[in-house]
Amino acid sequence: MTNIVVGSPVRNDNLYGREEVIDLIWKKLEGSNILLAAPRRFGKTSIMFNLRDSPREGFDVFYLDVEWIRKPSDFIVEIITELLSKDSTKRIITSARSFPKKILDIIKGNIEEIEYADIKIKLREELSGNWEEQGKYLIKLIEKSQNKVVFTVDEFPVMIHEMSEKNPEETKTFLNWFRSLRISPEVFKNIRFVIGGSIGIERILNKMDSIATINDLEKIYIGEFNKKDAENFIIELFKSEDVDVDKGIVNKILDLIGKHIPYFIQVLVSETIKESRNKDIDISREFVEKVYKEKVLGVECRTYFEHYYMRLRQYSELLEEKSSKAILKTLAREDEMKPKTLYQIYLKAISKTDDPDGFNYLMGDLENDFYIKFNHENETYSFASKILKDWWRRYYVLIE
Ligand SMILES: Nc1ncnc2c1ncn2[C@@H]1O[C@H](COP(=O)(O)OP(=O)(O)O)[C@@H](O)[C@H]1O
Ligand SMILES: [Mg+2]
Repeated sequence: MTNIVVGSPVRNDNLYGREEVIDLIWKKLEGSNILLAAPRRFGKTSIMFNLRDSPREGFDVFYLDVEWIRKPSDFIVEIITELLSKDSTKRIITSARSFPKKILDIIKGNIEEIEYADIKIKLREELSGNWEEQGKYLIKLIEKSQNKVVFTVDEFPVMIHEMSEKNPEETKTFLNWFRSLRISPEVFKNIRFVIGGSIGIERILNKMDSIATINDLEKIYIGEFNKKDAENFIIELFKSEDVDVDKGIVNKILDLIGKHIPYFIQVLVSETIKESRNKDIDISREFVEKVYKEKVLGVECRTYFEHYYMRLRQYSELLEEKSSKAILKTLAREDEMKPKTLYQIYLKAISKTDDPDGFNYLMGDLENDFYIKFNHENETYSFASKILKDWWRRYYVLIE
């Protein structure tokens, strides 16, 4: 049964669909490292959890969330402590002759209850001066593992972005180090990486002139649900709460949210059931529409969307934040707009008379981040998702 989960990554039976893309990932892993690309809330982390929770025969899968990491040595420490969490890989690591003795003592003293915090501190000390060589040495030990090892690395672009803000040179060194590690024959024999994240990694690397450091990765996109999956998903979610819905209601939900993003389906179904129970009203198409307008777009659900607004703060320069907000506000009022018109709005926001490159970059970012889409048929831009557009209108357009 697929239960309603709004926000946290979904696991086990609560992960609906996605069989095809998961199969594809396993297939590609035979011969490649992977870049898992999708906007926020499409279900990347859930898919990574599935790889870890249900590994294919002959694989050990580890999950790393690297969003908070700001130093290459910390990245390596995370990998090593993950490897120490599983008996088979722990044995390999700790039996290596030059594994730092201080750390070995800690591990051996606490076989039952490893104090990861202690190990991390010691490892960090060990690696701080010489992360390139030490790190490579430790990770290469895994070539002796019977099983193949897969590391899923979540929120990688955020890590790189933050790292490069602090220390661009070291970040470049790290990117090159990581690429050469991935493709070195000893490592490639047994270790694979699935690298994921929501913000456009290409843009970040282009700015650093380091795009070649991910050219070994095979890109796999995670899209919206197709219509049939979306319909069945809605029916399943209602069923898990003992509610039967007819096709009219299912279609109404799909109309309201626009693109079939699993997260937004969860939000609307969850709010509909809550509201129908609170008010003791049967679920009808009109009722769903009322819930959408009053609840989903209402203040109580604001936190579900707020990060799309806050996210723009992460755009590197202040001017980009300002100009992107100006563009989104304008676009939220229209069905679609020509690039030429948007360019004028951009120039006005940044008080310049000319900046085509900046504009193109920004539009590329907004497209990558799934705020807007480019319609090739008539060469216009529009909002990428109806629900986000409705939300943007509600909070940032109508109040003006
Ligand atoms: N396959 C799925 N089945 C059910 N719900 C999903 C699925 N994928 C995503 N979701 C919904 O989206 C939310 C975010 O999922 P998550 O895996 O954290 O996305 P991401 O890592 O891409 O931001 C979940 O809490 C859930 O509501
Ligand atoms: Mg995630």
